[in-house]
Amino acid sequence: MTLRNIITLPNPVLKRKARAVTKFDGSLRALIDDMVETMRDAPGVGLAAPQIGLSERIAVIEYFEKEEDEEKEDALKKVWAVINPEIIKASPEMVVGVEGCLSIPGLLGEVERHVEIQVKALNRYGTPVRIKAAGWLARIFQHEIDHLNGVLFTERAIRVWQPQEETAVDAEQEV
Ligand code: NI
Repeated sequence: MTLRNIITLPNPVLKRKARAVTKFDGSLRALIDDMVETMRDAPGVGLAAPQIGLSERIAVIEYFEKEEDEEKEDALKKVWAVINPEIIKASPEMVVGVEGCLSIPGLLGEVERHVEIQVKALNRYGTPVRIKAAGWLARIFQHEIDHLNGVLFTERAIRVWQPQEETAVDAEQEV
């Protein structure tokens, strides 16, 4: 596995709509493994392929599957690799949360997101999967799918600001 370089603004790849993946082979799976390693190293809870300079519809996420697990000490995070993901259902209920992005260092913003979503995607083998997500996990999926459409959280934010210190940024906000 190899750590990939995370690109930042103003790299134009971040503003581009990424292309769909059509080939599910060993090199795709190696790329996904690199993305997971890069996300963990950052550290962050999500990473989209455009963030490593690849304009392809691939994202990885590592977070708690159930909202209640966020409070449990022994709960394990789950890893998702989603290819060509699409939001097929979104709750009308919205919630505001504070997000950051590995590609926009030193900035946080308040962003309104759907509380619950359903995502249709392909897994690393090209098999269709459906994922139901709520709360922070739903937020991460929405943030990553935005990346695949060239949309950054700063474009959706109600307000953005620079935190006083680097340490003020929580790793779970970095997607
Ligand atoms: Ni991001």
